[in-house]
Amino acid sequence: MVRFVNVTKIYPGQTKPSLQGINLEIDRGEFVFIVGPSGAGKSTLTRLIYREELPTSGQVWVGGINVAKLKRSQVPYFRRTLGVVFQDFKLLPDRTVFENVAFALEVTDASRREILRRVPAALELVGMRDKANQRAQELSGGEQQRVAVARAIVRNPSLVIADEPTGNLDPENAWQIMRLLLNINQMGTTVIVATHAREMVDALRKRVVALENGTIVRDEERGVYGYA
Ligand SMILES: Nc1ncnc2c1ncn2[C@@H]1O[C@H](COP(=O)(O)OP(=O)(O)OP(=O)(O)O)[C@@H](O)[C@H]1O
Ligand SMILES: [Mg+2]
Repeated sequence: MVRFVNVTKIYPGQTKPSLQGINLEIDRGEFVFIVGPSGAGKSTLTRLIYREELPTSGQVWVGGINVAKLKRSQVPYFRRTLGVVFQDFKLLPDRTVFENVAFALEVTDASRREILRRVPAALELVGMRDKANQRAQELSGGEQQRVAVARAIVRNPSLVIADEPTGNLDPENAWQIMRLLLNINQMGTTVIVATHAREMVDALRKRVVALENGTIVRDEERGVYGYA
C-alpha cells in the first residue's frame, strides 16, 4: 500500500535532511503508529505520502503509484483516493457539519443522490448525524475532529493518514477518535497515525515505527511508544 525506497527529504533552504535513508513498507489493511520526538520527521513522512511534499531522492509509492511521477494535474485525483486527518481539524467554520463532509464529495462531481446516501452514513459512523445541520464553529474540539474523520472517509479511501489527530483533544475525546480510526481499520482501510499519544500507543500494541533525527530507529509489530 505504501512503500518508501531509500527516501531522503531536504526542505528548500535547509542543509540537514528532515528524513534520510527511509525504507518502509506498509501493507494493505495495516494500522501503523509513527512516533518520535518533536522534529524527528513524522509530519514530513506523512506529507510525502499524500504528496504535499516530494522526496529529494528515493521513491515514495502509494497504492502502486510513484508519487513523484504524478503530473501536477493528476495530484488532486490522487489525493481523492486518500483520507487525511489533521491535528487542527481544518473544517470550514461557517459551514454545517453536513456541508463540510459533502464538500469532499462535491469536488469529485458526485451526484446529489450519492451525497445524500454517503454523507449521513459517514456522520452516523462517527456519531454526528444528529448534529448534521450545526455549523462547524459551534462544535467542541472532539466533535470537530469526528466530523473531520467523517470527511476523510466519506469517499471510501483505501488509506487514511492522520497527523497528530488527537493532539488538541482531552483524553476522553482522544480515545474516541482513536477508536474511530481503529474501527475504520477493522473495516479494511489502511491507517497511518503520527502521534505523541504515549498512553494510547502503549495500550493498543499496534505496529510502531519510531523516527529520530529523520531516520527509522525502531519498527515493531506490537510496539510501544518507548520514550521516557
Ligand atoms: N516546510 C519546512 N521547511 C523547512 N524545514 C522544515 C519544514 N517542515 C519541517 N521542517 C524541518 O524538518 C524536521 C522534521 O520536521 P517534522 O515537522 O516532520 O517533525 P515532526 O516529527 O512532525 O515534529 P512534531 O512532533 O513537532 O510535529 C524539523 O527539523 C523541521 O524543522
Ligand atoms: Mg509533526
